[in-house]
Amino acid sequence: MESRTFSTESYFQTQRPPSGLAERTQKMTEFVDKWRAVPNQRVVLVTSGGTTVPLEANTVRFLDNFSAGTRGATSAEHFLSAGYAVIFLHRLHSLRPFSRHYSHSLNPFLDLLSVVQSSSDTAVSEHAKSLLPILQAHQKAQSEGKLLSVDFQTVNEYLWLLKSVTSVLAPLQRRGMFYLAAAVSDFFLPEDRIAEHKIQSVHGTLSLEMDQVPKVLKPLVQEWNPEGYIVSFKLETDSTLLIPKSRAALSRYGHQLVIGNELHHRKQRVVFVEPAHPSSTPRKARADERIREVETPPLMSGDGVDSFRETWLRLEDYEGKRTDGNPESELEIEELIIKELVQRHTSWIEAGYSSTS
Ligand code: PMT
Repeated sequence: MESRTFSTESYFQTQRPPSGLAERTQKMTEFVDKWRAVPNQRVVLVTSGGTTVPLEANTVRFLDNFSAGTRGATSAEHFLSAGYAVIFLHRLHSLRPFSRHYSHSLNPFLDLLSVVQSSSDTAVSEHAKSLLPILQAHQKAQSEGKLLSVDFQTVNEYLWLLKSVTSVLAPLQRRGMFYLAAAVSDFFLPEDRIAEHKIQSVHGTLSLEMDQVPKVLKPLVQEWNPEGYIVSFKLETDSTLLIPKSRAALSRYGHQLVIGNELHHRKQRVVFVEPAHPSSTPRKARADERIREVETPPLMSGDGVDSFRETWLRLEDYEGKRTDGNPESELEIEELIIKELVQRHTSWIEAGYSSTS
C-alpha cells in the first residue's frame, strides 16, 4: 500500500481527537485566562519528551522518539524562576520540573527517605541542604499556581493538544511564548491502517509502511498563533547538518528562533539560529565572537529568510561563573538558554507595542 502525505487539515479531519481533550483544554483555558488578567504576565508553553506511535489499536507495541524530557523539565524550572507562568506539555512519565532532581536513576527514592530521616534529626545533612532551594522553588510555583502540567503519550495526542493549546494562548498575543522541545515522531500509522489487535509473530518478519506526520509548525506560526514568540528545536546526530537544517527550518516556517542541538553534546552547547535582522531584536555588536552573521541564498521560495545570525551558548564559556549568583547548584545549559530567551521575548513584546502605536 502506498504511503500518503497528510496535510495538517486532512490530518485533523481524519484522525480522531484523544479522549479527555475537552477537559484538558478547559484546564489550559482557565490557566491562561487567570494569567492573562495579570498585567504584563508572560506565559510559556514548554513541550517536552518523545511522542509514541502505536503499532496496534489495542497497543502492545509502539515506536518511540528519543527524549528523557531533561531539556523541557529543566527549562520549565528556569522559566518559572524568570517569572513566567508555564504550561508544561509533557510525555507521560518523562522527567518533570523539580521532581527531575529525584529521578530513579539519578537519586533513588530511598536516598530521599534518608534525607527526610536526617532532616528530623537535629543535624540536617549536606544533601538535604542542597535540596532546599529546589523545594522552595517548587513550593513557590505551587502556591502561585504558575505551573500547569498536561501529559501526552502518542503523537496523535500531542498534535491535538498542541493545536488546542495554541489557540488557547492566542489572546495573550506577544506575551505568549512557545518552546517546542518535544521530540515529535515523523511517521505514524493512520487509524484506517492500524491493526486492531496485537500483531502476530507467526509470519516471521514484520514490514511497516508508515505515513508522514504533517509539520504543524507552519500553521502554528502562520494561522493558529501569529503573535507568539516561537522557538523550535532541531536535533541532529551529524554536526555538519545542524546549522543548515536549523536555517532551513527557520526559512520554511518563518518563526523567530531555532535552537540547534547535537545529540551527544546537547547538555554542553547549543546554537541559536535566527533571522539576522528581525524587527524585534536589537542588533548586538558583531565583535562578540560567539555570534556570527551570514548571508546565504534563499533556501525556500515565499517567506524564506535569507540571512541568519548564529549564537553559540557553551557551558565551558561560563566555567565558574554562575548567572543566578547561587554557588551551590551546578550550572545547566538551560539556565543560559532561558536567560537569552527572556531578553529576546522582551524585545519581541516591545516591538509589538511600537508597531501598534
Ligand atoms: O529531553 P532530552 O533528553 O534532554 O532531549 C532534548 C531534545 C534533544 C529531544 C530536544 O532538545 C530537541 O532537540 N527536541 C526536538 C527534536 C526533534 O525531534 O526535532 P524535529 O526536527 O522533529 O522537530 C522540529 C521542531 O518542530 C521541534 O521543536 C518539534 O517539537 C516541532 N514539531 C515537529 C514535528 C511536528 N509534526 N510537530 C512539531 O511541533
